[in-house]
Amino acid sequence: MRLILLGPPGSGKGTQAAAVKGRYGIPHISTGDMLREAVAAGTPLGMKVKDIMASGGLVPDEIVGEVVAERLSRPDARKGFLLDGFPRTIHQAEILGAALSARREALDAVVKVNLSDEEVVRRLSGRRTCSACGAPCHAVFSPPRAAGVCDSCGGALKQRDDDKEDVIRNRLSVYHRQTAPLAEWYSKRGLLREVDGGGLVEEVQRRVFAALEAKGPSA
Ligand code: AP5
Repeated sequence: MRLILLGPPGSGKGTQAAAVKGRYGIPHISTGDMLREAVAAGTPLGMKVKDIMASGGLVPDEIVGEVVAERLSRPDARKGFLLDGFPRTIHQAEILGAALSARREALDAVVKVNLSDEEVVRRLSGRRTCSACGAPCHAVFSPPRAAGVCDSCGGALKQRDDDKEDVIRNRLSVYHRQTAPLAEWYSKRGLLREVDGGGLVEEVQRRVFAALEAKGPSA
């Protein structure tokens, strides 16, 4: 399976990607995670993208296109992949299309997870992640037993730089302007499947699997 998960920031793409990866045995390729790793490691790529990411803007298409091309060239992506957070512009979709054509491969589906802006702000402003083990939690929906401390390992909980409310609103505005048009782009190619991202994680997961296992596009 060659899949894309599309949707606004905080719609649950990363959460659902973990389940899809487990079900289909394909690598989860998150450009956000790869870029954050580069920032944390202080690599030349990380230095280039750090301020852009902290402000909620988009990293230039050519830079992120190279990151994805390198990742797709690894052996585990030969049998399929799940892209999360890429493409984010029509130009990135064209870069991906050209890379896949050169490999004589094609996408199977693009699943778009829909969520309202207000729900996105609620989810992201409370998101916390353990700096030691990476376990996620939410300051309001699933608060830790002790403030600032991971329930799983006792590590310190941290907030992503781009999860401050003003930056979340900027990410949403960038999404509506630059990424949302991809839905129509993929719909015209018969690949788009839309799911409601509201409700419990397990409910959204059932919708994502149903969309993937349906015969044709939902949009
Ligand atoms: P990226 O990391 O891709 O961020 P994003 O798209 O903004 O997505 P998030 O990771 O914030 O949210 P998500 O949809 O994965 O939701 P999650 O499952 O975590 O990108 C970050 C930055 O990198 C960009 O702003 C840009 O600068 C740069 N970048 C990345 N890719 C790029 C590209 N292709 N081009 C250019 N720049 C790029 O869930 C969110 C929260 O909600 C969590 O706390 C989760 O536990 C909770 N949650 C999930 N599902 C539910 C549910 N059903 N009910 C309640 N809570 C839920």
